[in-house]
Amino acid sequence: MNKIKALAIAAAMVWVTAWAQVPADSPIAIEVRDYKGNTQPSEKVEALRLKGVAKAGRADFKLICEACHLVTGGGKPDGSIPQLAGQHSTVLIKQITDIRAGNRHNPMMYPFARQLADAQSIANVSAYVATLCIPLDSGKYLGADSPRQIAEGKVLYDRECAQCHQANGEGLKEMFYPVLAGQHYEYLLRQMKNIREGVRTNVPPEMFKVITKYDSTQLVSIAAYLANLNTPASMMMQSGSMCRAAKTR
Ligand code: HEC
Ligand code: HEC
Repeated sequence: MNKIKALAIAAAMVWVTAWAQVPADSPIAIEVRDYKGNTQPSEKVEALRLKGVAKAGRADFKLICEACHLVTGGGKPDGSIPQLAGQHSTVLIKQITDIRAGNRHNPMMYPFARQLADAQSIANVSAYVATLCIPLDSGKYLGADSPRQIAEGKVLYDRECAQCHQANGEGLKEMFYPVLAGQHYEYLLRQMKNIREGVRTNVPPEMFKVITKYDSTQLVSIAAYLANLNTPASMMMQSGSMCRAAKTR
């Protein structure tokens, strides 16, 4: 690993663990609108340290998560429910613990996220989800101008987003950069707008600064490009495989 990459990873770990001592796991946190973007429940740090057991995580996934995220972990192509399959386990752990602590406002999932017993259960379910094959049928941008949107989206994405989310939208496990390739179009667009408008605050300040420069028309193009991108599983850090078309959902 080169020195610059090692330094960047060290910086990301500081960002993620800096608030580890703050007991943020308060039941009222979800109602607080100006919460700190990166307030850390200690269970996040603990879950990141533990070894997730995918087989154990499967039971919780079936019981608690499947009703919304579906048995495949593919979510819904209308973007109401995100695709989780193949996402980096670090990203999954961070999002689940942020949602549990109210640092990422998600009233729909909040009561279900709270049902996971402890940090080990969070590590387990994340390990399981990360092994699911990546569906090929994500919700796409459906406008007639789709080829133009996708081409323009690629130019914009490559300029400022690829430095973190990587050239093929495959993210980076150690840095908590999510996989964006093949995520549902509507979900991507909603998250980008939520992040830009400060509705979703659990992102690094660098990303917030970058995304505030883009208007909604540009975000449509970027989302159209990313939803259309199928990153080969071999480029991701750990995910099992791409699903075969016939058994995606
Ligand atoms: C009642 C429906 C529902 C249930 C049950 C549910 N979720 Fe979710 N989940 C959602 C919704 C809706 C979102 C996206 C919210 C938004 O748009 O910000 C989400 C987002 C997520 C994210 C963030 C994805 C990303 O790309 O950032 C993760 C991780 C996640 N869920 C994992 C789980 C796990 C694990 C379980 C089971 C313990 C679970 N969810 C149960 C509805 C649900
Ligand atoms: C400094 C690195 C960085 C840059 C630059 C950056 N991002 Fe991000 N982005 C992140 C991180 C880290 C997250 C996950 C935030 C978290 O931990 O909750 C994220 C989250 C997202 C999400 C939500 C993913 C999900 O599954 O919910 C989208 C969409 C996104 N970024 C798009 C973009 C776009 C588009 C750009 C360029 C305009 C961009 N990002 C630039 C680091 C970055």
